[in-house]
Amino acid sequence: MPERSVRLDAADPSLPDRIFDEISRHQWMQRIDLGNGIVTPGKWENPLIRQAFDLVDFRGKRVLDVGTCNGKWAFEAERRGADEVVAIDNLRHVGYCYSGAFECAKRLLRSRVEYRPDVDVCEYREEETYDVVIFCGVYYHLRDPLRALANLRASLRTGGRMIVEGPVYDDKRQAYATFHYREPFLGDKTNWWVPSVRALREWIESSFFEIEQSLCGGAPQRFWGRMKSTFRTRVLGKAPRTYRQVLVCRAVKRADPWWPTPYAPFDRWSAPEKG
Ligand SMILES: C[S@@+](CC[C@H](N)C(=O)[O-])C[C@H]1O[C@@H](n2cnc3c(N)ncnc32)[C@H](O)[C@@H]1O
Repeated sequence: MPERSVRLDAADPSLPDRIFDEISRHQWMQRIDLGNGIVTPGKWENPLIRQAFDLVDFRGKRVLDVGTCNGKWAFEAERRGADEVVAIDNLRHVGYCYSGAFECAKRLLRSRVEYRPDVDVCEYREEETYDVVIFCGVYYHLRDPLRALANLRASLRTGGRMIVEGPVYDDKRQAYATFHYREPFLGDKTNWWVPSVRALREWIESSFFEIEQSLCGGAPQRFWGRMKSTFRTRVLGKAPRTYRQVLVCRAVKRADPWWPTPYAPFDRWSAPEKG
């Protein structure tokens, strides 16, 4: 059946009133196909995440969706055959405004996804219990993204997969990140860090993941802010261009080729697996 966005127009006679009322009561950020031609009216959509999903086998897996928002990617993992999906979010700071939408979609999809809207990924770990982690649209909202990556590595079984998505500066040569406190990145005050693509890769690799696939695209966005021109030209070289990067990564156990003494939380994975 062709996809059709729900028009939030009470005069639309083709939608059963009950479903229409229920959907229109909530705040939708993500487009979720609820079946029967009904698609929620969210605006966030990076088509590369779906492409990354095609590279991961969800069948029979235990999946963690971090920063689930309305639950789009958690429901998608379930649709693709995941055995168990846990969707976490940290909604205290936004007054739980997305939680009603998640519950509504869950009900209409008859989903079994477990929803935990009060969990900060920087404080959450479940030792080696997940096969797949979805970490899309989140790392740049965190004050401590490296702590989150350490927790996610700890929560994944060795050999498990993680899909990471977010903005990066288009710079493969230098590893740096800009910190946003007084000056919001792209006007959004909930953003803390924007790394160069090299920095993001190194954050992930140093957390005992191997990057298997890299997908990027979409319209470039430029962030100049009030950066001094000397910083721009000496450190960044030219106008920093950002784009959305998607990485598919594998949790590994291996000797660290770049760091002499393993960082304590990673002791367990810093030697090659025997046999
Ligand atoms: C831009 S949305 C991304 C939604 C979804 N993952 C996607 O890719 O479409 C960011 C989400 O991350 C959540 N989030 C922000 N900080 C978080 C934290 N510390 N722990 C867990 N989730 C967090 C927000 O509440 C929001 O739902």
